[in-house]
Amino acid sequence: MSEAAPNTSVIADAAPRRRGLFIGGREEAAASGKTFATRDPATGALLAEVAEAGAADVDRAVAAARQAFDAGPWPALPARERGRLLRRLAEAIERHADELAEIETRDNGKPIFESRQIDLPEAAAVFDYYAGWADKIEGSVVPVAGPYHAYTRREPVGVVGAITPWNFPLLLASWKIAPALACGCTVVLKPAEQTPLSALRLAELAAEAGVPPGVLNVVPGFGPTAGAALARHPGVDKIAFTGSTAVGHEVMRLAAETNKRISLELGGKSPNLVFPDADLDAAVRGAYNAIFYGKGEVCAAGSRLLVASSIHDRFLEKLVERTRKLVPGDPMHPKTKLGALVSAEQMERVLGYIASGRSEGAAVVLGGERAAVPGLEHGNFVQATIFDRVRPEMRIAREEIFGPVLATLEFHDFEEAIARANDTCYGLAAAVWTRDLALAHRAARALKAGTVWVNTYNQYDPAAPFGGFRQSGFGRELGKQALDLYTETKCVWVNLQE
Ligand code: NAI
Ligand code: MG
Repeated sequence: MSEAAPNTSVIADAAPRRRGLFIGGREEAAASGKTFATRDPATGALLAEVAEAGAADVDRAVAAARQAFDAGPWPALPARERGRLLRRLAEAIERHADELAEIETRDNGKPIFESRQIDLPEAAAVFDYYAGWADKIEGSVVPVAGPYHAYTRREPVGVVGAITPWNFPLLLASWKIAPALACGCTVVLKPAEQTPLSALRLAELAAEAGVPPGVLNVVPGFGPTAGAALARHPGVDKIAFTGSTAVGHEVMRLAAETNKRISLELGGKSPNLVFPDADLDAAVRGAYNAIFYGKGEVCAAGSRLLVASSIHDRFLEKLVERTRKLVPGDPMHPKTKLGALVSAEQMERVLGYIASGRSEGAAVVLGGERAAVPGLEHGNFVQATIFDRVRPEMRIAREEIFGPVLATLEFHDFEEAIARANDTCYGLAAAVWTRDLALAHRAARALKAGTVWVNTYNQYDPAAPFGGFRQSGFGRELGKQALDLYTETKCVWVNLQE
C-alpha cells in the first residue's frame, strides 16, 4: 500500500510506555524488577516495556486469585450479580473498542479493519454471552434407587490458569476468562510475550467495571518461566491453554503433577474441500478467506486446499487472480487486508516453510517471498503465497505453517477427498463446498474435525462450541460446552429414611 495511513491513532501518545503486572486489582512491578519489550511488528517500534513475571510473581497472582476464590467475594456473589458485572465489562469493551483495536493491531500486526470488525465486537459478544449464562448453571435431581434424594450441584472449579497465544490476544483471552468468571472461578492469565498489551487493558477495564480485586490477574512473561510456573502451580485448579501442539504437550506434563483439569486448543492443518458441483466463485472467496484472513496466523486456517481434479485448473486460476490483489500493507491503514506477521521469528518460520515447499518440488503459483512495504522496510511482511502440485507427504501439506501460505492438493472422488482430508495428526476444522446436500452431510460426518463448515469458512459465534479432535486438543471452548471446563459436578445424597 503506497498511500500513507491516515492518522487514526486513538492511543494518547506515541511514546513508549511502561506496563506492570496486574495482580490483586493493581498494577505492580515484577519482583525481579525485570521488563521486556513489546514491539510493533510492522514498524519495529517499541510499544512498551512490560514487567516480566517470574515464578515469584506467579505465586503472588495465584495467591490473589485463591484469596478471591476461597475467602473472597467472587463465587459467593449472587450469580445474577456476576452476570451483571460481566455485562458491564462487555459494555466497557464496546466503549473502548477503538482504543483496544489499535492496541491489538499495533501489538500483533493484524489489519485494523480485522481488529475493529472482528476481534473487538467478538470479544465483547463473548462476555455478553457468558453474562447470560451466569445465573443459568443448574444441577439436576438424579433418580437413584432407594430412599435417597440425590442431586447435583455445578460448582466452580476454582483458580484457572489461562495461557494464551499472540494471534487473537484479546479474543482468545476472552474465550477463557468470560466462561470462567461466569462459573464463579477466578483467573490468572499469562498472555503471549509478543502481545501482552490488550490483556492488561482488559484487566483494568474489568476492575473499573466492578470486578473485585484478585478475580482477574494478568502476568505477562515468557513461556518457560511464567507459563510453566502457572501450569505446575499447586494453587491452580485448572489450566486452559491455546498455542502450539508441542507446548500443549509440555503444559499437560506440568499440569499432571497436581492433577489439574486441563483444556487444550492447539494447532491445525485444516482441509478445505471443493467438490466439482460447488459454486466456484463462492468457493474461491471462501478458500481465500480461509487462508489469508488473520495473515493465516489462525489455528483453524484452511491451509490445505483440496480441489477436485476436474475443476482444479479453472479454480486455481480464479483464486490466483483474486489473491494477486492482496498485497501486504500498513496494518493501521483501514484498507489493508494483509498485515505484518507477529514477529521476525514467525516470519522466518514461514519463509522456511516456503523454502521447504520449493525444495520438495511443489510449485509456487503466487507470492513466495518476503514483501517490501514502502515506508515499513523493517516490517515482518510476507506475500500471499499459493502452492500448487503439493503432495500429501510434503512438509507444507503436513505441518502447521501459521502464515499466508496455501497448499493445494487434488482429489478424484469422495473417498479420496475424505481420506486426504483426514490424513493429518490434527483435527480442528474442515470445510466442504458443494451444492449436493447429501454429500455435504456425508462429508461433515466423515471429517475428523471439531468444526465443519459447509459452503462457508471461518464462522465463529460465542454460542458455537469450538475445539479440536486428535492433536488439535481437547475440551470445547465457547457455547454451553465451555461451562463444563470451569465447573465440577458434585453429587449430594440425602437419606430420606426416618
Ligand atoms: P507457543 O505455543 O510457544 O505459545 C503459546 C503460549 O504458550 C504463549 O503464551 C507462550 O508464552 C506459552 N508457553 C510457551 N512455552 C511454554 C511452557 N513451557 N509452559 C507454559 N507456557 C508456555 O507458540 P509460539 O512459539 O509463539 O508459536 C509457534 C507455533 O505454534 C506457530 O507457528 C503456530 O504453528 C503454533 N501456534 C498455534 C496457535 C493456535 O491458535 N492454536 C497460537 C499460537 C501458535
Ligand atoms: Mg514459543
